[in-house]
Amino acid sequence: MMNVHAPSFFVPPRPEAPSEELGLYRFFVAVRTNALQIWPKSAYEQGVVVRSALGRTRILINAPDAIHRVLVENTANYCRTSATIRILRPIVGKGLLLSEGEDWRHQRRTIAPALAPRVVPMMARHVALATEETIAQVAAVAARGPVDILAAVQFLALEIAARSMFSLEMRQYGAALRRLITRFATGLGRPYFLDLMLPAAIPTLRDLARMRFRSQWVAFMDEIIEARLRAPPQGKPRDLFDMLLAARDPETGEAFSRAQLRDQMATMIVAGHETTALTLFWSLYLLASSPAEQERVADEVRNIDLAPDSAADALAKLPYTKAVVNEALRLYPPAFALARMAIAPDRLGDVDVPRGALVMMSPWVLHRHLRLWKEPDAFNPSRFLGEAPLAHRFAHMPFGAGPRICIGAQLALTEACLVLATMIQRFRVALADATPVLPVAVIVTQPDHAAPFRLRLRN
Ligand code: HEM
Repeated sequence: MMNVHAPSFFVPPRPEAPSEELGLYRFFVAVRTNALQIWPKSAYEQGVVVRSALGRTRILINAPDAIHRVLVENTANYCRTSATIRILRPIVGKGLLLSEGEDWRHQRRTIAPALAPRVVPMMARHVALATEETIAQVAAVAARGPVDILAAVQFLALEIAARSMFSLEMRQYGAALRRLITRFATGLGRPYFLDLMLPAAIPTLRDLARMRFRSQWVAFMDEIIEARLRAPPQGKPRDLFDMLLAARDPETGEAFSRAQLRDQMATMIVAGHETTALTLFWSLYLLASSPAEQERVADEVRNIDLAPDSAADALAKLPYTKAVVNEALRLYPPAFALARMAIAPDRLGDVDVPRGALVMMSPWVLHRHLRLWKEPDAFNPSRFLGEAPLAHRFAHMPFGAGPRICIGAQLALTEACLVLATMIQRFRVALADATPVLPVAVIVTQPDHAAPFRLRLRN
C-alpha cells in the first residue's frame, strides 16, 4: 500500500496546563507569573467553565453563543474589571480603552474615521521608513554575531508608533519614552494580589506609586504634543495626531479637548506597540523554526517593492505573509484574555451569571481549543489561506470581537505584514541556539527569554 505522509509542521513548545482546576492561591501565583497556566487541561475541551472562590464567581467561556452574548448582544452588562482599571488608568487615562457607556460611544465614533482604511498608505509609509533604518542597524549587528530580535522589534514598534502618531523622529524623546514605558511594564503595570482583590476605589501603596508615575507620564506626553503643535502645518494630514486633532464626533460635532487628545495618544501607543512587537517576534520565531514556511514567505516577497511609496500597494500581494502573521496571532495571541465584570445577573446558555462575576474569554484557550482546531499546537499558516472557514466566528479573535474590537487591528496587521516581509526579503533567519522558547503571559504574551537569532543576508 502506498504510504502517504501528511506534511509535518513545527509544533512549538508550550507551558504545561495544570491537570486540575487551580485553587485560589495557585491561581493568584499563576496570574503573576504566567497566566497561560491558570486554565486546566479540561478548559481546552469545554464550552463554559465555572468556578467560585471567596464569594466570587469566575467564568471562562469558549462557546460561541455565550461569547456573542457577552461581547455583542448584552455588552452593556459587562464592563472592564476593577483590576484592569486600577492597573491601566495611570498610563491610558480616560482614553478609549477604559471608557464606558456614552463616553465610550462618543470617543469610538470620533476616533473610528481617523483609523479607517484610508490612513493605511500614510501608515505604510511611516512603517517602511522606520523599518529601513532599523534593518540597517540590525544588519550591522548581525554581521558580527547573534541578534536580540525581541529588542529590535520592540525598538522598531515603538519608533513606528511614535512616528505614525506624531511624525517626530524619536531621537529627542525615544529614550525617555522607552524608560517610562519599561518602568510601567516591568513593575507598576503588573497585577498584584491586592489589585485583584480590592475595588478600584480603594487605593493601595502601589496605586500611590502609579499616581506618581501618571504625573510624569502626563507631563512627558504634553511635552511631545507641544513640540508636535509647533511643527509648521501641512496641507494634508501627516500622522494620527493630525487626524485626531481634526476628528469630530459625527453626531455632536464635538472635538477632543487637549487632555482627551493626550489620553488617546497614550492609549494608542500603549495598546499598540508592544502587542505588535510581540506579533513580529513570534512570527520571526516561527519562521526561524520552520525553514519550508520561511522559504515560502521569501518566494512571495522576493520581487515585491516595499519602499515607502509602494508599501501600501504591496499589502495585497502578501497573502502568505499575512497568513503567517494570523497564525502567529493564533498561537501567541498578545492579548491572551479579555476580562469583563457582570454589572447585573445574566444567563449564558444554561449557566447563571451572578452580579459581579468575572467573565473571561481567552484567545489563548480558544486558539488552542481541541474542538475548534485540527492540530491546534502546530504552526500551519495555510489554515488562513483562501476561504477556509473557522470552526466558529470567535475561534480566532486576537483583536477581540463586537463593538469593542481593537480599533487598531488594521494598522497592526499592516505594520506586522510589512515589517515581516521586509525582514524576510533581506535576511534568512534562524535561532542561534536550541534553548526552547516558551510563552509567558503577565500583561501580554511574551517569550520567556530574549532568544538570540542568527541573520544572514539573502542575495
Ligand atoms: C497585534 C497588535 C494588537 C493586538 C493583538 C490588539 C488586541 C486588542 C484586543 C484583544 C482588544 C479588545 C480588548 C477587550 O475587548 O477587552 C483591543 C482593543 C483596543 N486596541 Fe488593540 N491590539 C493590537 C494593536 C493595536 C494598535 C496598533 C492600536 C492603536 C493604534 C490599538 C488600540 C486599541 C484600542 C484603543 C482598544 C480599545 C477599543 C475599545 O475599547 O473600543 N491596538 N486590542
